[in-house]
Parts: sequence; C-alpha cells; structure tokens
Amino acid sequence: ADPDPLQDFCVADLNSSVSVNGFPCKPAEQVVSDDFFFDGLRKEGNTSNIFGATVTSANVFTFPGLNTLGLSTNRVDFAPGGLNPPHSHPRASETGVVIVGKLLVGFVTGDNVFHSKVLSPGEMFVIPRGLVHFQLNVGEGKALAFTSFNSHFPGVVISSTSLFGSTPSIPNAVLTKAFQVGDDVINGIRSKFGS
Ligand code: GLV
Ligand code: MN
Repeated sequence: ADPDPLQDFCVADLNSSVSVNGFPCKPAEQVVSDDFFFDGLRKEGNTSNIFGATVTSANVFTFPGLNTLGLSTNRVDFAPGGLNPPHSHPRASETGVVIVGKLLVGFVTGDNVFHSKVLSPGEMFVIPRGLVHFQLNVGEGKALAFTSFNSHFPGVVISSTSLFGSTPSIPNAVLTKAFQVGDDVINGIRSKFGS
C-alpha cells in the first residue's frame, strides 16, 4: 500500500530534522550491509500482560532498511489462551503464518461478515487492509506466528483501547449511545484500559 520507491533503497535516517512523508535516506556512502539485516525478531516476546500476547515489530522504526520498500514483519507470541485483540492496520493488508501452536484467526468485513479458521503450523491467513481482526491461542501450549505487511509502517488501531483507553476519554454520551448500554458498563470497561 505504500508508494513505489524512487531509488533502489533509502535506508531511513530516523534522526533527521527534515520532515517528509516517510523518512529521508541516510547518505549512500554511509550505508552498510548491516542496514539490510535485522535480528530483533529472534527473541520470544514477553506475554505477561492482560491479553497474554505480544507483538514485536520489524518496521521502519526498528529496521530502518525497510524505509520506502513497502514491507514489514511482526513476530507475535501467545501464552496459552493469549489473544492478540481486535485491531486494524490503516496502511496495509496483512499475511500471517503460524509457526507454533493453534490459532483461531478471524476478521470482519465492511458488511459485517465474520470470517475465521483455526490454523496449525505452516498454515497461512490474509487480512484485507483496514479490517478488524484478531488471533486467539486455542492450543494447549504457547503459540507463535509471523505476520507481514505491504507497508514499512502499517500502523495499528486496537479497537478496545482506542475506544476505551483514549486520552482524554470519549464522552460517555457517545459510548453509551454507540453500544446501547448504561454508564456503569462503559465505566467498567474503561477502568480496564486506564482511562
Ligand atoms: C497480527 O495481527 C499483527 O498485526 O501482527
Ligand atoms: Mn494485525
């Protein structure tokens, strides 16, 4: 989904004071082989959080060699029962491969059709750009998946935290009407997301 590159590569200079769409390129004479390799997805992520899952990202911020190339990858680790909660990516479609365990993968289309399947190691999914999706560990042990995106920075909007954990809060008048429930329900959910 990112624009096409205008040169072979453009390793990001993340510290440049120049502000553009994307990042300026590090001068070509300073580019080294290591700019095109990244070992940050080797380690299991820490899943000690309320969801029991964690995403480790190889995007332009952590792997500047991806700048302008329209690609990035995540590692997603799941404790038993862990959930990568419903979220969407504004700038990319996503593919994923299960490496370890069993994951229930689902997404909802723009006309509210829910598509889902339980996947085993080696099996793959695709999430069309912008649609809300999740992965739930339904196996006995831990699970692991790698996901890839057609953007160097796909972005992420987590449904629960964007609606119930924003700063400042969305007014109760909006959320009680939107979800057709009382203030008590909204306040209860909001208290879980620190807002
Ligand atoms: C999984 O949905 C991910 O965004 O890595
Ligand atoms: Mn995703």
